[in-house]
Amino acid sequence: MNVLLIGSGGREHALAISLVKSPHLTKLFIAPGNPGTAQAGENVVVDIADHSAVVNFCRLMRIELVVVGPEQPLVDGLVDTLEAAGISAFGPTKAAARLEGSKAFTKELCRRYAIPTADFERFDDRKHALDYIRARGAPLVVKADGLAAGKGVVVADTLAEAEAAIGSMFAGAFGSAGAEIVVEERLDGEEVSFFALCDGTRALPFASAQDHKRVGDGDTGPNTGGMGAYSSAPVFTPDMKARVMREIVAPTIDAMAREGTPFKGVLFAGLMLTKDGPKLIEFNTRFGDPETQVMLPRLESDLLSLMQQCARGKLTTDAVRLLDETALTVVMAADGYPGTPKKGTEIRGVEKAERMPHVIVTHAGTRRDGKRLLADGGRVLNVTALAPNLAEARRRAYAAVDAIDWPEGFCRRDIGWRALERV
Ligand code: AMP
Ligand code: GLY
Repeated sequence: MNVLLIGSGGREHALAISLVKSPHLTKLFIAPGNPGTAQAGENVVVDIADHSAVVNFCRLMRIELVVVGPEQPLVDGLVDTLEAAGISAFGPTKAAARLEGSKAFTKELCRRYAIPTADFERFDDRKHALDYIRARGAPLVVKADGLAAGKGVVVADTLAEAEAAIGSMFAGAFGSAGAEIVVEERLDGEEVSFFALCDGTRALPFASAQDHKRVGDGDTGPNTGGMGAYSSAPVFTPDMKARVMREIVAPTIDAMAREGTPFKGVLFAGLMLTKDGPKLIEFNTRFGDPETQVMLPRLESDLLSLMQQCARGKLTTDAVRLLDETALTVVMAADGYPGTPKKGTEIRGVEKAERMPHVIVTHAGTRRDGKRLLADGGRVLNVTALAPNLAEARRRAYAAVDAIDWPEGFCRRDIGWRALERV
C-alpha cells in the first residue's frame, strides 16, 4: 500500500525508518520530510495546511493510509477532512485531538470521569485568576489553554512568578492559546511518558520513555522540546504500566467514546509518578519527539499494520512486541537553541556515525546544499543507539556523537543519568 507521512522532524524520520520495514508498504511519501526521510521514501511538496491539497495528492498517488506526525494538523482537523474523503488516517479527529489542543477540555474530562490529575481551576479573566492564586499561595503551575509549542507552562515556585505568568498570558504572550488559562497544584515525583495505540474503543500499551527537557547537563537551564531520551523507562514497572492503563488510559478512551468523540491514534500520556500514585500531567495525541526515536528501534511488530488497524477502528493485535533492549538518543542542537539557533553551519561525519553498529542517526533540522549537510533548525540530529542495557546504549550513542564533526552544534553529555542512578 502507498502511505503518506506528514511532518518534517526527527520523529518523522524515525517513523519513516519503521514504516519502510513493513512488507505491506509499496511506497512511502513524506510531506514535507527532511534529508533523512528522503533516504526512506520520497519527500513531496504538499501544503499540509491546505487540507484539500492533501486529499488531492492522496487521490493522485492512491494513498491508502495517511500518518500524521505533528499535533497542529490534527487540531486543525486534517483527519476529519481525509476521512470525509474516504481516506484512512492514523491520528485523531479534531474533536478527539482536544485532548492535546485544550488543557481545559482534558482537565474537565478528568474531573468528570475521576481520572487522576493535579487539582485545577480555569480562568478567562486576569482578576479572578489573581484572586485565586493569592488565596491559594505558591507553588502553582500556570498553563495557557491552547497549543503553545510546549512553552505555555510555567511552574511557579513563588506567587510573584505565578502573577507574572498570568499577566503575560492574558496580555497575549501566547495569542489565542492564552485567552483561557488553567491553574494547577504542583505535582512532585518522577516524570515518565507512556504511549498507547487506540482504535476508538480499545487501547493497547505501546512503550514507555523518559526524556530530558532542560537544555543543560544535570537538568539545568531553560526547557526545550527534549534534549535526549531513553526507552524503556526503568521507573515504569509492569505493575505501574497496568495501573496507568486501568486508571488513566482506559477510562480516557471509554470517556471519549461515551462523549461521542472516540479517540484513534496514539495517546501519549505525560505522567507524574507521585507518592499517591500516577497522575496525568498532560495528554498529547501524537508520537513524542524524541521519544519516538527510542521507542521504534525496539519495535518488532509491524508498525504499518498496527497503524492501519487503529485507523480502521479494529485493533486486533493482542500485544505490541518490543525487543528487551534499551535505546538511548542524544539530541544534537545548534548553538543558540532553545533561543535563536545558528543556521547554515556544515555538519560532517554523519555517514561515519551511521555505519557504527546499532546506531541510527535521524535528521530533525537539516537541509542539503549539494553534497553538504547543513544545520537548519534548533534540534538538528538525533543520535540513537540500541544495546542490551542502558549503560551500553549510552556508550554507543556518545561514541557516534563523537564521530560527528559539527563545531557549531552541542549536546548534553548526561542523557540517561536518572535511570543509570537507579540501577
Ligand atoms: P505540559 O506542557 O503540560 O506537559 O507541561 C510541561 C512540563 O511542565 C511538564 O513536563 C512538567 O515538567 C511540568 N508540569 C506541568 N504540569 C505540572 C504539575 N501540575 N506539577 C508539576 N510539574 C508540572
Ligand atoms: N518530547 C515531548 C513531546 O514530544 O511533546
